[in-house]
Amino acid sequence: MSTAKPTFTIFTLTLLLLLGFFLSNMASEPVTGDDDDDDLEGLEELLALDEEEEEQEGSRVKSSEADVLSKAQRIVLEFSNENAKRIIDDNEYVLVLGYAPWCPRSAELMPRFAEAAMALKEMGSPLLLAKLDAERYPKSASLLGIKGFPTLLLFVNGSSQVYNGGFSKEEIVIWARKKTGAPVIKLTSISEAEEFLKKHQMFVVGLFEKFEGSEYEEFVNAASADNEIQFVETSNTEVAKVLFPDINSSNRFLGLVKSEPERYSIFEDTFGKDKILQFLEYNKFPLVNILTELNSIRVYSSPIKLQVFIFAEADDFNNLLVPLQDVARKFKSKIMFTYIDIAEDDLAKPFLTLFGLEESEKTLVTAFDNRISSKFLLELDPTPINVEEFCSGLLHGTLSPYFKSETIPDNGGRTVHTIVGRTFKDLVLSSPQSILLEIDDYPTLLFYPSSDKSNPIKLPTKSSLKELAAFINKNVRAGEDRGIQINDQATKDEL
Ligand SMILES: *[C@@H]1O[C@H](CO)[C@@H](O)[C@H](O)[C@H]1NC(C)=O
Ligand SMILES: *[C@@H]1O[C@H](CO)[C@@H](O)[C@H](O)[C@H]1NC(C)=O
Repeated sequence: MSTAKPTFTIFTLTLLLLLGFFLSNMASEPVTGDDDDDDLEGLEELLALDEEEEEQEGSRVKSSEADVLSKAQRIVLEFSNENAKRIIDDNEYVLVLGYAPWCPRSAELMPRFAEAAMALKEMGSPLLLAKLDAERYPKSASLLGIKGFPTLLLFVNGSSQVYNGGFSKEEIVIWARKKTGAPVIKLTSISEAEEFLKKHQMFVVGLFEKFEGSEYEEFVNAASADNEIQFVETSNTEVAKVLFPDINSSNRFLGLVKSEPERYSIFEDTFGKDKILQFLEYNKFPLVNILTELNSIRVYSSPIKLQVFIFAEADDFNNLLVPLQDVARKFKSKIMFTYIDIAEDDLAKPFLTLFGLEESEKTLVTAFDNRISSKFLLELDPTPINVEEFCSGLLHGTLSPYFKSETIPDNGGRTVHTIVGRTFKDLVLSSPQSILLEIDDYPTLLFYPSSDKSNPIKLPTKSSLKELAAFINKNVRAGEDRGIQINDQATKDEL
């Protein structure tokens, strides 16, 4: 291997859990100085304009959706090289969306971001929302630490924090309030609770005699630390019962409510922040989850390491759903059940390829034990009884792992390393190199650019070698002058 050719490294990770840990725990450095001076005038003008319109609108008929959106867009500040730094330094909380005009994912996020801005303003949130065209203002973008599109960063007194909430309007609002001092909504009357219930699908209810004491503090800390679920509190049992009918305690209670079957889960442990967060991790998913592009990272990073994936056409799945839910209920919080529409190539193919079944059109049930990196295939008809036995075998470790017929490549080549949980931080996060991470027997490829390890990019695993090389070249060049060399044999086999 010539030393003139720079190297590129591929690691395999056996501990999936770390991925979730990693995704939810990154924080980046504070932004450093710049003396651009411009000020908040722009913002105040915009807000004033907006209020004026609001008053006029009072007398008008309901404005159309487009009006609402354009109004929302105007609530979002526009950053430029002149005002960005100043506004961030002068405000306690600023949420910045770094975007590029040509980027479709930015375009998708923009209206939701704007609607979230409007909702937050109506709630009296102290948070400012701003957007920066990172292509037009690269200087500000690099100053703020915006490296990809779209990027969301929260600045608290000038220091940035990576966004790790969801991407719907509601999820942006929930996350923003959690991180800006309003993590819990207090409900005092039955009518407030009924209103709340109309608007929220998933939430945590806390009932406390008094909003004080260590248990209450742990509850609030959990509410701030969690990234996606709205917490509510009340001291009135009747109010709590509107949200959670089976409350069996009048002085202290915590429960999770979801929209699907298995709607109510009672927290039965001691009140501690970590215990509460763990309870949510294990109970927040539906009995049978439906995989989408939006929730895939959350599914892949769940701490539940026994996972069953069902592949079927939509009609077949509809018939199977209720019996599957019955099976899933028996393995609740031990095995995670996820359905993937077999017609959705982007989602289904990477998994099916692992079993050499990419052309299959019939219903398939597969499983992963991410504690030991094994995969399994149900070879019998997917009847409820067979699925249940399969799950039972998965739980008790008695299934035979599935092996694809190809031989495992000899990874003696120095460009491919195997890492385990303990070495993840040193070898991936702290390495000066760009890293392509493949998780053993799991169809996910993550690319960690050397310039920004906190923002891994998810690659479609069905990429051809050529596409993969092009992607890596582009991203490595973007980061620094490190070229790459791909170990062809290894890469092919890894795919
Ligand atoms: C931001 O700074 C102000 C003024 O120093 C301080 O009062 C406030 O607590 C800080 N906010 C946070 C969230 O640390
Ligand atoms: C409430 O119900 C849960 C679950 O059924 C149970 O573990 C708990 O002991 C009950 N608490 C009281 C005060 O009855």
